Amino acid sequence: MMLIELTGITKRFKNGMEYKNILENLNLQIHQGDSIAIKGKSGCGKSTLLNIIGGLLPFDEGAMFFNGIDVSKLTESQRAEYRKDNIGFVTQNFHLLDDRNVYENIALPLQYLGMSKHQIKDRVEEILHDLDIEHTTKRTISTLSGGERQRVAIGRAIIKKPLLLLADEPTGSLDEETEESILEIFSSLHQQGMTLIIVTHDDTVSKNCQHIYKLQHKELHSVY
Ligand SMILES: Nc1ncnc2c1ncn2[C@@H]1O[C@H](COP(=O)(O)OP(=O)(O)OP(=O)(O)O)[C@@H](O)[C@H]1O
Ligand SMILES: [Mg+2]
Repeated sequence: MMLIELTGITKRFKNGMEYKNILENLNLQIHQGDSIAIKGKSGCGKSTLLNIIGGLLPFDEGAMFFNGIDVSKLTESQRAEYRKDNIGFVTQNFHLLDDRNVYENIALPLQYLGMSKHQIKDRVEEILHDLDIEHTTKRTISTLSGGERQRVAIGRAIIKKPLLLLADEPTGSLDEETEESILEIFSSLHQQGMTLIIVTHDDTVSKNCQHIYKLQHKELHSVY
């Protein structure tokens, strides 16, 4: 089943007095359960593309369908609903609540769902264990190392087991061993049916994906 379809997507940003196309007539089809890596030079538009797929950024031309729904036809609040119900997002700058502790950051998406404290605790503890950050539970984000923050961001993104996980350089500041454990978590999520789109420069990460695309000349090219 087709989960996401982008057709003829063009995105431009204002650059001084002019507009510059960052993405141009871009097409992408993703089936439910696919895992996809996106590579490409710094500044080529990878984060822009993820933000579009995640419903965070509007586009100028083309169409995007999610589960057959035309996302550009949704209202702002429907789009927020779309994100909340379907998508986990690990952004490049993590977007964590810096003055809250690790537990609170990871628990947040479940609190919005209205789960009981007890259920939330069980689930958060499981994630903390899987990501090997139990020792950080009560610490505020501002006291964590880069790699610890990255893992908290991953924990928050996957805790609801979303249909689609978008991850922007999720292993960028991790050592090999921690990266290995993150990749294991991703592949177990994938085996449970989650669709993954991962922006990465790292060949170890992209080799774990079923498809690799390169974003170049404002378009996606299939590498395999
Ligand atoms: N809001 C904005 N206004 C103007 N230009 C922007 C805006 N957002 C991004 N850009 C520009 O669009 C281009 C693509 O940015 P993007 O962040 O998508 O690149 P990227 O491929 O993710 O790069 P990196 O690998 O460094 O993260 C860059 O030249 C960037 O400066
Ligand atoms: Mg980026």
